[in-house]
Amino acid sequence: MKIILMGGPGAGKGTQASPLVEQFHFPHISTGDMFRAAIKDGTALGLKAKSFMDAGGLVPDEVTIGIVAERLALPDCADGFLLDGFPRTLAQGSALADILDRLGMKLDGVINIEVAEEVLIPRLTGRRVCRQCGASYHMVFNPPKEEGVCGQCGGELYQRSDDTVETAKNRLNVYNSQTEPLIAFYEEKGLIKRINGDQPIDKVFQDILKALA
Ligand code: AP5
Ligand code: ZN
Repeated sequence: MKIILMGGPGAGKGTQASPLVEQFHFPHISTGDMFRAAIKDGTALGLKAKSFMDAGGLVPDEVTIGIVAERLALPDCADGFLLDGFPRTLAQGSALADILDRLGMKLDGVINIEVAEEVLIPRLTGRRVCRQCGASYHMVFNPPKEEGVCGQCGGELYQRSDDTVETAKNRLNVYNSQTEPLIAFYEEKGLIKRINGDQPIDKVFQDILKALA
């Protein structure tokens, strides 16, 4: 299965990626996670990405497209993959089409998790993420059993530096102007599967499975 998970910031892409990976055993390719790992490791990629991410803007296309092209060419993607947070611009969408053409691959679907804007900001500001395994929690909507501790691996939970109200609003503006046009791009190709993301997490997952069946 070769799929893209789309949706605004906080729509639940990372949350749904975990059970999808368990179900389909494909690699989870999240450009946001790749950039955060690069920042943590202090690499040249991390240095390039940091200022854009801190402001809630997008990392330049040429940087992002390059890392995804390299990742998709690895052997573990041959039978399937889950792209999360990429593509995010029309230029990234057409670059992805070229990359997949070159690799002889075809997308099976584009899951678009739809959530109203007024729901997204509180989701982002209340989010806590595991430092160790990356699992996503929410102080109100999906609290960990023990405060500050990941229920999956025991790791410490932290708040992402771009989950402030101000940066979250910027990310939403960037999503509306730069990423939303991709929905029409994939709709034209008959690939879009619309999912109501304003439902309990398990229900959203069941709807995604139905859409992919
Ligand atoms: P990235 O990490 O991709 O951030 P994002 O798209 O803003 O998405 P999020 O990770 O914030 O949200 P999500 O949809 O995964 O939500 P989650 O499941 O955690 O990107 C970060 C930055 O990197 C970008 O701003 C950009 O600078 C850069 N970048 C990344 N990709 C790029 C690209 N392709 N090009 C250029 N730059 C790029 O859920 C959110 C919260 O809601 C959690 O607390 C969760 O517990 C809760 N929740 C989830 N589902 C539900 C539900 N159904 N009901 C109630 N609560 C829920
Ligand atoms: Zn964890």
